[in-house]
Amino acid sequence: MRMSRRVANLPPYLFVEISQKIAEKKAKGEDVVSFGIGDPDIPTPPHIIERLCQAAQDPANHRYPETEGLPELRQAIAGWYKRRFGVSLDANSEVLPLIGSKEGIAHIALCFIDPGDTALVPDPAYPVYSVSTMLAGGRPYYMRLTEQNNFLPDLDAIPDYVLRRAKLLWINYPNNPTGAVADLEFFNRVVGFAQRYDLAICHDGPYSEVAFDGYQPVSFMQADGAKEVGVEFHSLSKSYNMTGWRVGMVVGNAKMIEVLTRVKSNLDSGVPQAIQYAAIEALSGSQDCIQEHNAIYQKRRDLVVEMLNSIGIEAKPPKAGFYIWAKVPEGYTSVDFATELLEKVGVVVTPGVGYGKGGEGYVRLSLTLPDAGLVKGLSRLAGWRNTRSRRIS
Ligand SMILES: Cc1ncc(COP(=O)(O)O)c(C=O)c1O
Repeated sequence: MRMSRRVANLPPYLFVEISQKIAEKKAKGEDVVSFGIGDPDIPTPPHIIERLCQAAQDPANHRYPETEGLPELRQAIAGWYKRRFGVSLDANSEVLPLIGSKEGIAHIALCFIDPGDTALVPDPAYPVYSVSTMLAGGRPYYMRLTEQNNFLPDLDAIPDYVLRRAKLLWINYPNNPTGAVADLEFFNRVVGFAQRYDLAICHDGPYSEVAFDGYQPVSFMQADGAKEVGVEFHSLSKSYNMTGWRVGMVVGNAKMIEVLTRVKSNLDSGVPQAIQYAAIEALSGSQDCIQEHNAIYQKRRDLVVEMLNSIGIEAKPPKAGFYIWAKVPEGYTSVDFATELLEKVGVVVTPGVGYGKGGEGYVRLSLTLPDAGLVKGLSRLAGWRNTRSRRIS
């Protein structure tokens, strides 16, 4: 058997390794508290589940769905964008449901990247932007996100020779893993940049509904001319605790949506219809759950940030998203520190370097574990501080 070079060079997905480490610990009977993957612990709201169950009873929903999704779902997505961001979308040509946004993020590389082409990718970032580029035979050019730049890419620092080869530009706000946010002024600059260098923009915005202290993230689609140059990926995973149901969407530039639909229709058969009905309910029904979830995350955010700072780990409270991006103590790499926390106190955090070289020096803590686990995790972190002070003294 001879595998493709493409697969031979493919790194294991970050969370597969972390899940394996947790499983090994658990197999030894050790209890682990995980601040690892960003997968909401809070269940999908009951009205959405009810709609899903109802739809699952209907034999019409037992058959293959269409790649482009039900017209009612595309309308519901367009309606949600109008209400939430004041953005008008044509439900037939500017909206496409996805089998979770990860699926569309991965497939869009096939629409733009030929072997040798370049995609501009933030570093650190959600790994799928660079991996899908590489699977398509392309090369990621990494745009370093630094605290000094508020974790926004410095577009003017990208060399001209790179821009001449580049076809796609990836951005993601509210940002995973840094927790940074972007304003409309930044998105307007991105549109101008795309026009100047003939780039297609992919903005990934699944965390726009997870926000704190009254802050409301903006959509890339609100920028002037956004639809002429790009698309926005979004998801029901984080807004409505629907990670397991696999439903998301991409909206914006009609040409980009058309080519992605063409690729997808050759590779997949769309979102199962009962799940599409659940998604319609989520987007069109009561939105009260969003504030309820955010109140829970905000409390957790404050507890975690306070504890981290009290044990000498620098972390700032993010305005949005459910991740804390914390600086590792001096003398550790991000992997050393994550390993020490797991080995010494049974706490899982994600090493920043897993999101790219630019993530070195940080670890990411996700707030998506139940309150009891979170409290236990915090007391273990305090315990880590004590083991450390004993070592120092
Ligand atoms: C930045 C970002 N984009 C996309 C996704 C994928 O979300 P889903 O495929 O569940 O829609 C995630 C999931 O963690 C993410 O963090």
